[in-house]
Amino acid sequence: MDAKNILCEINEGVAVVTVNRPESLNALNSAVLAELECVLYGIEQDQTVKAVILTGAGEKAFVAGADIKEMAPMTSFEGHRFAQQGQRLVLFIEKMTKPVIAAVNGYALGGGLELALACDVIYASENAKFGFPEVTLGIIPGFGGTQNLARLIGPNRAKELVFSGRIITAAKGLEWGIVNELTPLPELKEKALGLAREMAKNGSVAVGYAKNAIVNGLNMTKEDGFRYESSLFGVLFATEDQKEGMGAFVEKRKAKFQGK
Ligand code: HXC
Repeated sequence: MDAKNILCEINEGVAVVTVNRPESLNALNSAVLAELECVLYGIEQDQTVKAVILTGAGEKAFVAGADIKEMAPMTSFEGHRFAQQGQRLVLFIEKMTKPVIAAVNGYALGGGLELALACDVIYASENAKFGFPEVTLGIIPGFGGTQNLARLIGPNRAKELVFSGRIITAAKGLEWGIVNELTPLPELKEKALGLAREMAKNGSVAVGYAKNAIVNGLNMTKEDGFRYESSLFGVLFATEDQKEGMGAFVEKRKAKFQGK
C-alpha cells in the first residue's frame, strides 16, 4: 500500500512514524487510519525494529482528531464502522510486541488523544494540548477514549474532561498523569528517541512480554494477572536473551541480545 499520509523512518532499531497531513492538523480520516494500520503492521513484522515513536507533522498538532469533514455526513452504520476502524488500530498498537512512544507535538484532541492513549508512554512538548471535544460536536469519543482515559487517570477526571469538552494544557496533562514527561518542542524528538533507544537495547522479547503483562493484566483480576505474569516469566527462561542477559552479568560484560 502506498502510504501518502504517513511517513516512516527506521534507524538503529527505532521506527519514527509521522502522521503527515498538516493542512488538516493531521486529522484522521479513514484513509489515514488504514495507512497507519498498514505501516504499523509492517513495523510489527520487522525484526530489526525494537521500539516505535508516533508523532505528527508540523509544530501545531499531533493529531487534531478524527476528520470532522469526513464524519459530518455519515449514517449511523458508517459512524459505527468508522469507530470500529479506529478501535482496531488502537487495539493493534496495544497488542504490538514493541513499545510505542507518543511524541505529542501540539494538539492531541479526540481521536488524536485516543491514538496517544493507545501508546505505552506519552512524551509531550510544552505547547501540547489535550482534550475530548466530541460532545461539542454531538458525539462521544469512539476510538476507545472513554475506556482508556478512565483506566489511566480514573473515572472522575476522565468524566470532567469528556463531559466538558474542555481542552487542557500539557502541564495539566502531566499533573493528571496523561503525560509521562514534558519538554520544549525543539527537544521533543530527541527526548523520545533517547527513551526509544534505551528500550531498544534491552532484550526485545522481554520488553514485549512486559508490555503484554501490563496491558493484558489491566483487564484481569489481580490474581489472574499474577498468574499470567509468572507464566510469561517462566517462558522467558526458554529464550537465548535470558541466557545472554544473565550470562553477561555473571561474566561482567555487556549483554548482546538477539531478540530470540
Ligand atoms: C477535519 C480539521 C480538524 C479535524 C482541524 N482541521 N481539525 N479538519 N477534522 N478534526 C482543519 C481545519 O478545518 C482547517 O482546515 C485546518 O485544519 C486548520 O485548522 P484551524 O481550525 O484553522 O486551526 P486553529 O484555528 O488554529 O484551531 C485549531 C483547533 C481547531 C482548535 C485544533 O482546528 C479545532 O477545534 N479542530 C477540531 C478539533 C476536534 O473537535 N477534534 C475532535 C474531532 S471528533 P480548513 O481547510 O478548513 O481551513 C473525534 C472523534 C473520534 O476525534 C472518534 C471517532 C469515531
